[in-house]
Amino acid sequence: MNSIVIGAYWGDEGKGKIVDLLAADSDWVVRFNGGDNAGHTIVANGTQVILHILPAGVIQSKNVAIGPDVFFNPKTFFADYDAVVKAGFRISGKILLDERAHLIMPYHVALDAGGAASGKLGTTKRGIGPAAKDKASRTEDITIYDLISGNFKDKVKAVVAAKAFELEKCGVIKGGSEKEISAYAAGIHAECSKYAEKIMPYVGSCAYVLNEALAMGETMLLEGAQGSLLDIVHGTRPYVTSSNCTAGGAAANLGVDLRKFKVVAIAKAYPTRVGEGEFPTELGSYEDAKKEKKGERLTAAEKKKAVDGDLQLLGKWIRQDGSEFGATNGVDEWVITKIDVLSGKPFKAAVAYEKDGRKTTRFPFQLKGWKPVYGKKEYFWQQMTEKEKSAAVENGYDALPQGMKDYIRDMVAATQIPVSIVSIGPERGMTIIKDVLKRTKAYLQ
Ligand code: GDP
Ligand code: IMO
Ligand code: MG
Repeated sequence: MNSIVIGAYWGDEGKGKIVDLLAADSDWVVRFNGGDNAGHTIVANGTQVILHILPAGVIQSKNVAIGPDVFFNPKTFFADYDAVVKAGFRISGKILLDERAHLIMPYHVALDAGGAASGKLGTTKRGIGPAAKDKASRTEDITIYDLISGNFKDKVKAVVAAKAFELEKCGVIKGGSEKEISAYAAGIHAECSKYAEKIMPYVGSCAYVLNEALAMGETMLLEGAQGSLLDIVHGTRPYVTSSNCTAGGAAANLGVDLRKFKVVAIAKAYPTRVGEGEFPTELGSYEDAKKEKKGERLTAAEKKKAVDGDLQLLGKWIRQDGSEFGATNGVDEWVITKIDVLSGKPFKAAVAYEKDGRKTTRFPFQLKGWKPVYGKKEYFWQQMTEKEKSAAVENGYDALPQGMKDYIRDMVAATQIPVSIVSIGPERGMTIIKDVLKRTKAYLQ
């Protein structure tokens, strides 16, 4: 079966872990959106790898492709490649880079870092917004095809000249004389063209290669970056990214038939978000979270206060245990990740939003002023020991703590969408496969 794996919230749901896991049953793993603003963590055989642009299937030596709607930074691509090799994994499948994918140029990164959007929206400063802007302009955009074609030098020169005012305004070019602009363009060309020959063997057309593979019965997993709430159309605008993060976007942007895919959405057991933007169910405040240091832990007394109802401390505890430090389509099944992080912490789930006496179970377009309405039920289960976690993996879903199962069951009842996988740790094997995808279970043993 072919699957599209997307994040259900604001990113960092654990897509990397799940894509790596499910890749066992796929011939191809294809990235369809975003760019190196993504960070997908895989922990396999005790080794952690964080991939920014290479599809997670590369860890299992699957064929991988990067689609035409991905913003492509060649520097990150080779850094990812080297990181995988250094971690001891063998890359032996095909690698396909779509010729239509747009390049992230060094000036996009500089414009993102120095531009208004990075502060206002809290972007990742990887140049995604400026590259997307150029793509939409159709006059100042540069594709992978341009990089490997003979006129790359002229194209860079023309684009830099067209952008000179913007680059000068942002302090990327100083002075702005013709000589300075030419020298800047020559530097950019030299920096980027060194990748042209290196990527040449990988360049092709996803629409043709992937559809031919599907027609031959090869299986495919489409790996989403970011999450549905960061989608440029359906997300929490303006605090979103610059591409489509939903399953419909995957099919449209790759040029494959959506009907051939089932949609697997990764829902972290508790939503988090990085960057700016409203977050109605936030525990504590983003400003406090930013001041927190990595490795900081709650004291036993603080944990007791959190259990007794201090939501500020509860939020801090979840952030610490979950290591949460910045690193509108139908859904067929949920994958719930990081539910282990909620162990030992009593919580209630938000079931609606309320503003000025108005209540809705729909997700408001502009979240400002909307407060969460919590359900009556409080969920709680004891911390699981490593031994208990291993036993749950061994014995399956029924062996999970009752409170955890209650939470999962209520999520299924509320959404009418089944859960196929429950993830209880970052390691590939710390996974419980429920009902469907049984084939993958053999791989876990
Ligand atoms: P992605 O962007 O959706 O791929 O997610 P990230 O890799 O950015 O962030 C997810 C983090 O949670 C990573 O550090 C993972 O190793 C970790 N993780 C994934 N699944 C689980 C899980 O079930 N439990 C715990 N405790 N950590 C997990
Ligand atoms: P993965 O794939 C979490 C957020 C940024 C910012 C907004 C816009 O690892 O889940 P951008 O640089 O895209 O212009 O930033 O989107 N953002 C992410 N947040 N995970 C991601 O990717 C993200 N990619 C972008 O924090 O709020
Ligand atoms: Mg991430």
